[in-house]
Amino acid sequence: MSNRMWGGRFADGPDAIMEEINASIDYDRKLYRQDIAGSKAHVRMLATRHIVTADDADKIVQGLDTILSEIENGTFTFSRALEDIHMNVEARLAELIGPAAGRLHTGRSRNDQVATDFRLWVRDTLDTLDGQLGDLMQVLAEKAERHAGDVMPGFTHLQSAQPVTFGHHLLAYVEMFARDRGRVRDARSRLNESPLGAAALAGTSFPIDRKMTAAELGFDQPMANSLDAVSDRDFVVEALAAASLIAMHLSRLAEEIVIWCSAQFAFVKLSDKFSTGSSIMPQKKNPDAAELVRAKTGRIYGALQGLLVVMKGLPLAYSKDMQEDKEQAFDGLSSTSLALAAMTGMMRDLEPVAKTMKKAAGSGYSTATDLADWLVRVPGLPFRDAHHVTGKIVGLAVEKGIDLHRVSLSDMQAVEPKITNDIYSVLSVDKSVRSRTSYGGTSPVNVRKQARRWKKELAKATR
Ligand code: ARG
Repeated sequence: MSNRMWGGRFADGPDAIMEEINASIDYDRKLYRQDIAGSKAHVRMLATRHIVTADDADKIVQGLDTILSEIENGTFTFSRALEDIHMNVEARLAELIGPAAGRLHTGRSRNDQVATDFRLWVRDTLDTLDGQLGDLMQVLAEKAERHAGDVMPGFTHLQSAQPVTFGHHLLAYVEMFARDRGRVRDARSRLNESPLGAAALAGTSFPIDRKMTAAELGFDQPMANSLDAVSDRDFVVEALAAASLIAMHLSRLAEEIVIWCSAQFAFVKLSDKFSTGSSIMPQKKNPDAAELVRAKTGRIYGALQGLLVVMKGLPLAYSKDMQEDKEQAFDGLSSTSLALAAMTGMMRDLEPVAKTMKKAAGSGYSTATDLADWLVRVPGLPFRDAHHVTGKIVGLAVEKGIDLHRVSLSDMQAVEPKITNDIYSVLSVDKSVRSRTSYGGTSPVNVRKQARRWKKELAKATR
């Protein structure tokens, strides 16, 4: 049997393999809500412009509402023979209301229809991600304020570098997620134009009102070029690019959680709710949620790459290639949402172990820079000389197998006679972090101020 929607010139139905490769209903059924909202907006506009009668429009709207509830309560039968969500809905509409259903598609094509549906879906998803980023930032800012004075080792090359505070470390992630939020909002604002009414590619001869449908669907305005309207998928690429950066940031934090909760570090305690045990090793508590957040990055980057490759070199306007825009994007964006939720839960429950972190912060000669800075500040050595002197003292400590603050005054003075007892006042990790008061530095005063600034900012954003 040939297709009811477009089969006029077809004598034969499709090969089974054709149906297999052509049908998108298994995944684009996700767009049902957007598809029905778009159709309702379209037919109301058609009635206002006297392109269909008010009576037919009412029947169509009622029929669409029935379909919506059928899908939501699971009684709707999706058919692969009907290819996609658009034709599944329209065919059911015909069953429900008869020939008037055939008037819905006036002045419209599946090309502008799918572009509209997908934009609406991506817009909702971006709004969800925006809220989730806000929640995660809130959790991090609150934790940062609480642990503004807890010292931990700061690393470069994953080697002990200088002491920092746990709060400062968490606020670094707040900055990253704030940039992510900016990208999400930016993508949303560019996305928010309506393709509906571009029809197949050239516009339509019917006196439609594209501004009306745009407004009804919450778009800022109709897209100005019909070819662009049906062929553009930048909005999905931008959403996936923003998601990729979110995933990158999440994976870095996840990696740190994995390191921090290992027995060798023991910087943090992960709650039972976000860990698993081992079926053979009873002592184990594994950070599975963090590992999975780290790993989700693969499919999110994959979705971005996948779509960039699908779109590359496509001539204007619509090509069926573009049906391949959805499956990976759905997966990539919902994985991002899931990863954000898991990270927020993990971070809410995670408790730093201040004692271990502080002890680790003091090892590895992490206050050597403070010693050098003292030599510059007090006896007035040039920084390069101070660096050299400090290097010698560190060498001495290494040789003796002791920490920096355990090197005796006479040993230090043998290297540099200008050193006095006051030097010991800068060699503690607490003193070290307290002295880092430059703007953006790790001093607890700074951290507390920044944490409060973020909390205020976030309270504003949710209002
Ligand atoms: N299922 C199609 C898609 O997702 C809808 C558009 C089909 N348009 C067409 N001209 N065949 O792209």
